[in-house]
Amino acid sequence: MIIDGKKEAQLLRDKIKKEIDLIKLKFNKVPGLTVILIGDFAPSQIYVKNKEKNAKEVGINSEVVRYPKEISEQEVIKKIRELNDNDAVSGILVQLPLPPQINKEKIINAIDPLKDVDGFHPINVGNLSSGHNATVPCTPLGCLLLIKKNEPNLSGKHAVIIGRSNLNGKPMAQLLLKENCTVTIVHSKTKDLKTECLKGDIVVAAVGVANLVKSDWVKENSIVIDVGINKVGDKIVGDVEFDTVKEKAKAITPVPGGVGPMTIACLLKNTLECFKDR
Ligand code: GUN
Repeated sequence: MIIDGKKEAQLLRDKIKKEIDLIKLKFNKVPGLTVILIGDFAPSQIYVKNKEKNAKEVGINSEVVRYPKEISEQEVIKKIRELNDNDAVSGILVQLPLPPQINKEKIINAIDPLKDVDGFHPINVGNLSSGHNATVPCTPLGCLLLIKKNEPNLSGKHAVIIGRSNLNGKPMAQLLLKENCTVTIVHSKTKDLKTECLKGDIVVAAVGVANLVKSDWVKENSIVIDVGINKVGDKIVGDVEFDTVKEKAKAITPVPGGVGPMTIACLLKNTLECFKDR
């Protein structure tokens, strides 16, 4: 079965829109999302445009603050503090990557954890890892929703996560642990990737290596989630060799059209949750 991320994202956006419509009727208020975009990195321009379009469609007040790549760290932090104090702003997202003169940690730490729709602030990271309420990074949250759609009870399942990034691998592991999975994280220094992957009832590939996961790396009836976005020639492919692995897995996400649309839908979900919590 091929998991239709576009369809699932649409269903989630419809649900969010309905809730925002009701809130607007009742309180005459809507959530606000401000995205800070620095420089002219082409993929970031596309992602931010999509985020803005999707936010507007569900009724979120969306604004993009653009800065040239030479902007100082201090200037960006000043803007973040202003947004922290602005009651109309429910969520703040600083699009990554940042230019070299800007320290990513300092920027993330400056965002009010209650407005941190990316779930990157150490308070949210800590709350997630200690099993408390937290804003969860959008991509792993989207992956979890897709996995649970196919397998509502994950208790006791073995999940193998390829990649240990703060954006994807680590929060994905925390989420699956919370679902009572047995979790293995594998990475570039792991001795035998294939043997480890073969243990997975669930495999999440988030490593950024085109077509890394082959069909003899996954067991029959596994759920395979592909977070990778890699350019090969003029094609976008994932971290999983889709055409062969789809013959073996019980369910698999395509690239594009799998995790990507869910990531943006989860950003809208996080923005709505931050609005309600405040
Ligand atoms: N750049 C690529 N993915 C992301 C993301 O999820 N959040 C932010 N802020 N920047 C990104």
